Amino acid sequence: MTFSQYAAAQGERVNAALQRLTPAESIEPPVIHKAMRYSLFAGGKRIRPLLALAAGECIDPAAKGLENAACALELIHTYSLIHDDLPALDNDDLRRGRPTNHKVFGEAMAILAGDSLLTLAFQVLAQLRDCPADRRIRLVEELAVASGTDGGMIGGQVHDLEGEHQTPTPELLERIHRAKTGALLRCSVRLGAIYCGANEADLAALSSYGEHIGLAFQIVDDLLDIEQSSEQLGKTAGKDVAQHKITFPAVYGIAKSHEMAEAELAAAYRSLEAFGDRAHWLREIANAIVNRNK
Ligand code: IPE
Ligand code: IPE
Ligand code: MG
Ligand code: MG
Ligand code: MG
Repeated sequence: MTFSQYAAAQGERVNAALQRLTPAESIEPPVIHKAMRYSLFAGGKRIRPLLALAAGECIDPAAKGLENAACALELIHTYSLIHDDLPALDNDDLRRGRPTNHKVFGEAMAILAGDSLLTLAFQVLAQLRDCPADRRIRLVEELAVASGTDGGMIGGQVHDLEGEHQTPTPELLERIHRAKTGALLRCSVRLGAIYCGANEADLAALSSYGEHIGLAFQIVDDLLDIEQSSEQLGKTAGKDVAQHKITFPAVYGIAKSHEMAEAELAAAYRSLEAFGDRAHWLREIANAIVNRNK
């Protein structure tokens, strides 16, 4: 199986589960379910669920119901994008190749759509039927911490916004990126592994992999913002310079940023050494993250 066949098959599994887990548009009040589904099914790359599935299946290839846990990550991620695009944050008009949620449904409904995806993520974890209760509680804790303020996604978003008025330094840059993007990517790997009952040594190795690809992911996001068109990205290109964001290219330049992404990829591979062939798809995903064009 090629990586693109693998990613398409896993993506379909995730999409089918998201369809099942998200209230239908006909359910009252329809407008919020329309707004949630508008962003959820707009063609995201599903990298976080793919990571959760690959990490889990590296531990237990026969795990049942893992795709439901993987969906919690996409729900959190999609909420974060809807809110990231709001006029009060990055003020973006284009996302996943479509007008942003608030452009279609208005700001109030976009805020509520984000809130409801966030809430649904934890409902999904609480309702994981195929997972023992003690593991489920651990998953809830992991996702809450990674999405939260202390080293998690919200903390990173706060630093990112405050950074617009600060001098870019390597320390601030790393703090922003590890939190705003890295935490949820690392968590994606950990959720899959914990769901499948990974031991502490395997979990530590997978977490290290998750940290390296998390950093690589955002280095590449920063590079794509400069090197690709809005049409190619499905989101507005060139925004980071316009908004004085602290990014890898802003601190290190374009060539050095590419080198740093490659160095993180090599470090991610090293973290997987003990797994041998079991980590095949995790290596392929890391490679796809660094070599993506959107
Ligand atoms: C974009 O994430 C936002 C960041 C965290 C940098 P993705 O590049 O995974 O976006 P989608 O899900 O494919 O739209
Ligand atoms: C967003 O980072 C990270 C989130 C937590 C949503 P960016 O602001 O760089 O993401 P894009 O470039 O708008 O997708
Ligand atoms: Mg942002
Ligand atoms: Mg943004
Ligand atoms: Mg960006």
